[in-house]
Amino acid sequence: MELSVHDFDLLRKYIHQICGIALGDDKQYLVRQRLEPVAVEQGCKDFAEFAHCVSCCADGRLRDRIITSITTNETSFFRDGHPFSLFRGAILPKLHRIILERKTRPFGRRGAKAAILSAGASTGQEPYTLSIIINDFFRHHQSNEGVIPSDIAIVAADVSSRALAKAVAGEYSALEIGRGLSDLQKATYFTHEGNTWIVKDQIKKLVEFRRVNFIESFTFLGAFDVIFCRNMLIYFDQSTRTRIIEQFHRMLSDGGYLILGATENIFGLYDRFEPIRAERSTAYRKK
Ligand SMILES: C[S@@+](CC[C@H](N)C(=O)[O-])C[C@H]1O[C@@H](n2cnc3c(N)ncnc32)[C@H](O)[C@@H]1O
Repeated sequence: MELSVHDFDLLRKYIHQICGIALGDDKQYLVRQRLEPVAVEQGCKDFAEFAHCVSCCADGRLRDRIITSITTNETSFFRDGHPFSLFRGAILPKLHRIILERKTRPFGRRGAKAAILSAGASTGQEPYTLSIIINDFFRHHQSNEGVIPSDIAIVAADVSSRALAKAVAGEYSALEIGRGLSDLQKATYFTHEGNTWIVKDQIKKLVEFRRVNFIESFTFLGAFDVIFCRNMLIYFDQSTRTRIIEQFHRMLSDGGYLILGATENIFGLYDRFEPIRAERSTAYRKK
């Protein structure tokens, strides 16, 4: 189907409005590729009809279908490696101490004592990687002083209902599982039926999946000690990024950590965060 500049403009404005993704002039091919099947499903004969239908009368279902089709869900277990080494080596031991301290408070919160947010969690590999690291950490530390993996809760949020459905199922192909996991991790934390690898309950039970659109207010998710937000902000414009990072700042506990993707930074908000370099990666600590 042909996509005129005019219809591309209408569609990219709509996409920006519903999920914040800012598409440059060079992304016409992407809209054509990803939205043509949606236009066909809608019974539209061309993009002009589809763009009209979207701008005048898209319902929740069509809106969701467009979000699911236009978002890029690329991810893998232990993606980029270094941020997870930093989490394991520099942050997790601190979380352990924080949990111990919170456990001794007379009127402390019930349930998990520390919380991590995986923002833009896609199909679940990032939050499950965190759960694997946490489970490994507690298996290998002799003296945990009563701290257990489920003292840490992981909230994994994404706007794509299709990505979330896969994440909740926790089922991966041999190819997906082969990207980033060692044989030992596979054997310890997954079962498999033929070529499908299934995350064990021990890993799943730390993670709660939520459908969240980060261009709307999301502070209702609560307070966190660590926020991973990797490879999502790159799709947004500067003002959207700043708004999101300001909310992260509000939600982080004092001294909490924000971890971004390898090519992302915190855009002039350095006065509120202190960069911490370790394991060839950077985390931003809330001042
Ligand atoms: C490239 S993936 C990153 C996955 C993972 N964080 C990683 O680095 O491997 C980006 C994710 O951001 C999600 N996303 C994009 N816009 C969003 C929005 N407005 N609210 C919530 N999630 C969004 C997409 O659905 C996608 O799953």
